[in-house]
Amino acid sequence: MNPSFEIRAIDIKHATTEEYRAANVFNNRMQAERLPDDPPISLDEQIREYQNIPSFVDVNAWVVWNTTDSSAVGVGVVVFMLTETNQHIGELDIQVLPDYRRQGIARRLLALTTETAQRANRRLFIANTNERIPAGEAFMRRLGAKRGMETHTNQLAIAELNHELVHEWQARAQERASGFELGFWDGAYPEENIEEIAQLFRVMNTAPHDDLDIEDFNFTVEQMRERVRTTVARGRELWTMYVREKKTGKFVGFTEIFLNPSRPEILNQAGTGVLPEYRNYGLGRWLKAAMLDKILRERPQAKFIRTGNADSNAPMLKINHELGFKPYISQTVWQVEVERAREYVASRQSSVASIQ
Ligand SMILES: CC(C)(COP(=O)(O)OP(=O)(O)OC[C@H]1O[C@@H](n2cnc3c(N)ncnc32)[C@H](O)[C@@H]1OP(=O)(O)O)[C@@H](O)C(=O)NCCC(=O)NCCS
Repeated sequence: MNPSFEIRAIDIKHATTEEYRAANVFNNRMQAERLPDDPPISLDEQIREYQNIPSFVDVNAWVVWNTTDSSAVGVGVVVFMLTETNQHIGELDIQVLPDYRRQGIARRLLALTTETAQRANRRLFIANTNERIPAGEAFMRRLGAKRGMETHTNQLAIAELNHELVHEWQARAQERASGFELGFWDGAYPEENIEEIAQLFRVMNTAPHDDLDIEDFNFTVEQMRERVRTTVARGRELWTMYVREKKTGKFVGFTEIFLNPSRPEILNQAGTGVLPEYRNYGLGRWLKAAMLDKILRERPQAKFIRTGNADSNAPMLKINHELGFKPYISQTVWQVEVERAREYVASRQSSVASIQ
């Protein structure tokens, strides 16, 4: 028997417990396909995640329900960053459970995300697919998207880490970069330096974007504060290691790690950056080695560190590969004009009439 479906918008920041429960089951099924080694996410954690999304992240979401058992079988999301730049972008994320694919469900969700993006004057969709679910690539190609950037999540297995190297890099930095000092922030950034720290974080705009039609992200100090506040409210820890020039007091580089007490064995290394004029002094190596040293000392449960890198980011990959990070999963970032997606949906409109 063909189940019947119903599509409803969901206010993800203020949903009902039943909606959160269904979304949690759905997300864990999708995660099992994408990251089969990862432990499932608990309902509590899922709710905390959704209820603590920063206010500058505008999430528009729809759930496809199987009305026979009230389970969620598909989810479509388009995110608009309410930032000064990149107001032309909608971050698209459409997922359908394996047993329900190839029935036009993603296309129906695309119709809704497209309408919403056009109403919000967003002209470009950016979306990610990964090698574990090749159907994602087929779908993006079908709606006319182009590959914008090839990336990998790279993973370091702590058991394979060369501790000698970690010590050597720190010792070498103390000779070669003696004009610099290392420091650490646990969670919030110091208010007296927050303007300068926001400037420092803009170094991430120098990481490659390849063919992606995106502008620099320039987060304001309030957005920086909110990012930390919501991270903590989600039950995470944020560790930031920084390097400062002694002579001028200038912050010149940083690396950050997100820790999740619900799965202490897997850590995520997010941004790492050194200002262009301070490169080639070994500061990037110093930051990464010092952070690893701290993790080894203070988080003995840690087994893996993951980090996302553009495949074209040679300087970062050199450091990561020397430390023992290995490709874990490959991802492609796609882009397609919203108008092009609308044309695709319109051309297929007649075949989606079966879904209410
Ligand atoms: C991509 C995904 C959402 C597609 O869901 P779906 O409900 O099976 O897609 P639909 O049935 O609506 O198909 C839409 C179009 O894509 C095509 N398509 C989808 N999967 C395909 C596949 N595996 N091979 C070839 N074409 C495929 C369909 O044929 C259809 O084209 P048509 O209009 O000419 O018939 C689903 O495979 C998934 O959840 N993948 C993981 C998440 C992901 O990568 N999302 C894409 C980035 S947002």
